[in-house]
Amino acid sequence: MESLVFRGIVFNMSWEDPEMDRRAFRITPDDVVISITSAGCNPLNFLCQSPRKLISIDSNPAQTALLELKLAGIATLDHETFFDIFAARRPSRVTSVYRSRLRPCLSAKARSFWDKRLWMAARGVYQFGRMGLFCRILRAYLHTMLRPEQIDEFLDSRTLEEQRAWYNRHLAGRFWGPASKALIRFRPFMYLAGVHPRQFDLVDDRHDMFDYVKERIEYVLTQVPIYNNYFLSITVSGRFRGNYVPPYLLEENFETLKNNLDRVQVVNGWLGPYLDSLPPGSIHKFNLLDIFDWMTPEAFEATLHSVLRAAAPGATFIYRSGSYKLDPPTTILKHVTSHADLARELFATDRSATYGSFYVFSVNGKA
Ligand SMILES: C[S@@+](CC[C@H](N)C(=O)[O-])C[C@H]1O[C@@H](n2cnc3c(N)ncnc32)[C@H](O)[C@@H]1O
Repeated sequence: MESLVFRGIVFNMSWEDPEMDRRAFRITPDDVVISITSAGCNPLNFLCQSPRKLISIDSNPAQTALLELKLAGIATLDHETFFDIFAARRPSRVTSVYRSRLRPCLSAKARSFWDKRLWMAARGVYQFGRMGLFCRILRAYLHTMLRPEQIDEFLDSRTLEEQRAWYNRHLAGRFWGPASKALIRFRPFMYLAGVHPRQFDLVDDRHDMFDYVKERIEYVLTQVPIYNNYFLSITVSGRFRGNYVPPYLLEENFETLKNNLDRVQVVNGWLGPYLDSLPPGSIHKFNLLDIFDWMTPEAFEATLHSVLRAAAPGATFIYRSGSYKLDPPTTILKHVTSHADLARELFATDRSATYGSFYVFSVNGKA
């Protein structure tokens, strides 16, 4: 099932709010950072903060190929062309620069991927991949209830009062009916959204998937400012709005990204074994997304032991979960310090509407 569902590009954008990561990590020029790649957005957001080294790893070669294409764009293009392609403002420009500029920078695996699928980037990567299909279906469904200008009216809201009034007027009483319940409970549809089968069980067994999704969506639509929420704008309108984009797409960061390219190492592989191949105590920041929701409890524990081994004293690791509570096992807890207040404060600002909980831990002395 995993290889069936999670083949090719699943995540066409990283669905973790980078502002939470930035404030949790406070990256310094001495830091070696390791991050799960997903769509590569957040690893590149970390690169904007000039760590000593950035390792970006993913088990899915298609996700790795997407990051490689972005890195090739940073290395060979000017910001306007880079933005046109990767913010999908004029994505078709990729066809005129692929062979001459981008392809020479790619690994053999990434070349064979993009040689056959460049049309995805040319038509706008946010329309494609599993996530792209999920969002297109969701938009078609939303348009059975709302006109595009009504959605724009919401995205233009400047206050939470305005957001709540709009939500109560247009969605609260209409959206959460039997059709939405059926859609949310239809596993293949949620798999398209990148919800791993184990993650679906984790959430549904504990919180009922429909109630969970309703609570998360209502929270973000009524409690978190919408005007700069690029996660929601790309989902419900299929495009970014102005300069409300992931930090790595901003012109002000482009020169820094170009100057930091030699600090990046891209790895296609599994996190646990890769961490075990590194010198002990060599990593300062670990960005683990929600990979533990994809794992068995045994793999969760084993991977965290690999994190402890690879962690420098005082290193920070962060992760998210679809469930409201996924604490590390006791064998790990005695070696780490939980920064629960900071995690709670940051989680309250989460614009992604995707997760039920967020964790910030620092590693004490050596295990
Ligand atoms: C955990 S998933 C979920 C991402 C997140 N929900 C999102 O929407 O961006 C993120 C990425 O982790 C990769 N992944 C999952 N488990 C992994 C592991 N143990 N080692 C390396 N990559 C992993 C997947 O291939 C996927 O691209």
